[in-house]
Amino acid sequence: MAIQKIYRAKSTKPRSPILILIASIACIAVLYLASSVVSTIGFSFSSPRSLKNPKNRRSENEKYLYWGSKIDCPGKHCESCEGLGHQESSLRCALEEALFLDRTFVMPSRMCINPIHNKKGILHSSGNMISEERWAANSCAMDSFYDLDLISNTVPVILDNSKQWHHVLSTSMKLGSRGVAHVQGVSRADLKERSLYSNILLINRTASPLSWFMECKDRNNRSAIMLPYSFLPSMAAEKLRDAAEKIKVLLGDYDAIHVRRGDKLKTRKDRFGVDRSVHPHLDRDTRPEFILCRIAKWVPPGRTLFIASNERKPGFFSPLAVRYKLAYSSNFSSLLNPLVENNYQLFMVERLIMMGAKTFIRTFKEVDTDLSLTDDPKKNTKTWQIPIYTKDGEEC
Ligand SMILES: *[C@@H]1O[C@H](CO)[C@@H](O)[C@H](O)[C@H]1NC(C)=O
Ligand SMILES: *[C@@H]1O[C@H](CO)[C@@H](O)[C@H](O)[C@H]1NC(C)=O
Ligand SMILES: *[C@@H]1O[C@H](CO)[C@@H](O)[C@H](O)[C@H]1NC(C)=O
Repeated sequence: MAIQKIYRAKSTKPRSPILILIASIACIAVLYLASSVVSTIGFSFSSPRSLKNPKNRRSENEKYLYWGSKIDCPGKHCESCEGLGHQESSLRCALEEALFLDRTFVMPSRMCINPIHNKKGILHSSGNMISEERWAANSCAMDSFYDLDLISNTVPVILDNSKQWHHVLSTSMKLGSRGVAHVQGVSRADLKERSLYSNILLINRTASPLSWFMECKDRNNRSAIMLPYSFLPSMAAEKLRDAAEKIKVLLGDYDAIHVRRGDKLKTRKDRFGVDRSVHPHLDRDTRPEFILCRIAKWVPPGRTLFIASNERKPGFFSPLAVRYKLAYSSNFSSLLNPLVENNYQLFMVERLIMMGAKTFIRTFKEVDTDLSLTDDPKKNTKTWQIPIYTKDGEEC
């Protein structure tokens, strides 16, 4: 019997590899279809535009938008540069225009790092360097901050050091006047509607010399905002997102506060020699005893509290440990040090961690529903007031 069974099994063998092969192909095809459906549905939650695969969109008809090789340049920021948040506002403004015009945005291949925002020591003294060299030394590759494929799911982007960009430039030269339009101060709507611009391969905008984001003056009009503030933070490079995910797992169930001190505490003396600040309560409101009082109603005792801050005094926030389990990015330095090259990247990781907190308290309110450490407005009010350190009277 046994022998017969084996024999019969053997006799059917010649057909089975083919059957298995066909079955496998069918399985793979089904899985492939299922996964592409799932990913399409998945993406469509974040952006309906993602339904178009960006790789398929790269066609002969692809058109481009270029704003220059450095964020916020030309203008006062060509050599020095602003912090990450400021540059992101500018980049987001340019990406919104590309989205509006249905064009691929040509991203600067490097982002400027402001030395005051960097303690990692990658910056070399720049005494006798010419400005281009100095810029190269004070900048980092854009793709070390952002995942360009992920951005391209919403707004197609290429880098200005890519083969594709060089190809666009040579094609635009061949096309002559149909190749490139250099524009300055032309409205977004005109670039979209007027045939003079709408059919051209490349639009080269010279943005406001103050800051790129000045081109998005409509920011106060909420319905004119096409990309949320959280867009670029969530587009962090894969290694930064991975690190943040690992830290979030280690933190477990946690709350977070972002405590902006550093640059925001800037005071200047008035003509009587008295210190004045545009955020008169900020220094007080970001001190641990005031934080304890303020967040008591939002963060119950015993919670893990992740603190992101540019305060450099060691142990500054330790008094918060009377009520909370404190955690900082420095608790995870063995994980972060090998991959974080500068403070911009470190802040990008911290931001992702803060976004994952159960309760998140900002320094300043951005929108009415935000929890914040201070009631001072974030916007520079230009009114310099005497800083206030006394309690307002309400008890904790
Ligand atoms: C874009 O326009 C600026 C100002 O007209 C010019 O200096 C720059 O070379 C142009 N770049 C491209 C790629 O056309
Ligand atoms: C706000 O933006 C929308 C969309 O761009 C536009 O239709 C509307 O006219 C704008 N409203 C104001 C007051 O500018
Ligand atoms: C993080 O480090 C601080 C000291 O810098 C320590 O007090 C705290 O307990 C650490 N937190 C965690 C979650 O390990």
